[in-house]
Amino acid sequence: MQSRAVLLRRRPVGMPMPDDFELRASDLGPRARGFVRVKNRFVSIDPYMRGRMAGRAGYAASFALGETVPGRTIGEVIESDGPLKPGALVRTLSGWREVFDARPDEIETLDPRGLPPETFLGVAGVSGLSAYAGLTRIAQLKPGETLFVSAASGAVGSVACQLGRIMGARVVGSAGGPAKCAFLREIGVDAVIDYKAESDLAAALARAAPGGIDVYFDNVGGAHLDAAVGALRPFGRIAICGMISAYNADGPQPGPNLMQLVGRSARIEGFLTANHMDLMERFIGYMAGWIASGAVKYRDTIYDGIENAPRAFIGLFRGDNFGKPLIRIA
Ligand SMILES: NC(=O)c1ccc[n+]([C@@H]2O[C@H](COP(=O)([O-])OP(=O)(O)OC[C@H]3O[C@@H](n4cnc5c(N)ncnc54)[C@H](OP(=O)(O)O)[C@@H]3O)[C@@H](O)[C@H]2O)c1
Repeated sequence: MQSRAVLLRRRPVGMPMPDDFELRASDLGPRARGFVRVKNRFVSIDPYMRGRMAGRAGYAASFALGETVPGRTIGEVIESDGPLKPGALVRTLSGWREVFDARPDEIETLDPRGLPPETFLGVAGVSGLSAYAGLTRIAQLKPGETLFVSAASGAVGSVACQLGRIMGARVVGSAGGPAKCAFLREIGVDAVIDYKAESDLAAALARAAPGGIDVYFDNVGGAHLDAAVGALRPFGRIAICGMISAYNADGPQPGPNLMQLVGRSARIEGFLTANHMDLMERFIGYMAGWIASGAVKYRDTIYDGIENAPRAFIGLFRGDNFGKPLIRIA
């Protein structure tokens, strides 16, 4: 059986380019006994992959050159001689590829609990959990507080905005362009900033949150973080989930004046969702209820065909995607 995969051909410098990747077809041959053959149905595209494509040391090892780009997928068992039957849905870390063989202990069965399987890569997966862990454990958001979220229409940001609303906060969201800002209003964001139409983000945030902010959920870094630190109220908290504006930069970027945190007894804390996986089961239970009741809405941008994984990935840094980018494999 033929399977196509997208390999990392060279390490991106600055904005990733299509030529940094290579599409390669291979013949899987017969499946070895004890292995299952899995066909990926949805493949996740994530910003963290950019850091791991770089050759420098980070919190996790770099992706290897000439190998399939690793990442989360939802697949379906198509051949097996063990207890996992063909048709079973599985979560895998098999990355940007169509079909692969795995030992049963390398994959995890998925109970979709009435949700579309692909939501377990986005709103009901690590993206959604990042928002949940960041707001509950790291920022400890309280009812009546003002929450500011950047990349607010994105996979993580859109969940952070809606959880903020559910937790009783006033929510200010920043996104690029009128369509994404309209979506934010649709999901109940109280004040919306189109950062691409603003020359002074601090002034825009002051208009959106005249009394300041209690919590900033950072997806972007840069000017957004600067503005948020300046607007922080006494005992404010900043949860750093990511800083996508710096992912294509070569080296450290200038940061905000952290002296401002002292007088306000404020706190800033980064987190890795991987350290909060103990919350996943509880979170999925809540999220299934929120989606069913309409309390949480989500958008995915679906690209058909594994050959489009580089395009979807590059789109993350250009604002091309709306919500979670996913590759669908027919
Ligand atoms: N800590 C963890 O364990 C963890 C886990 C998951 C995700 N994350 C991080 O969380 C953040 C959000 O992840 P996601 O998967 O939901 O991706 P995402 O927010 O959907 O990422 C794409 C969006 O980022 C925005 N963006 C890109 N470049 C930007 C720039 N220079 N300035 C301002 N905005 C920019 C764009 O939004 P607009 O279209 O609005 O411009 C774009 O649509 C990322 O930083 C990611 O690395 C961290």
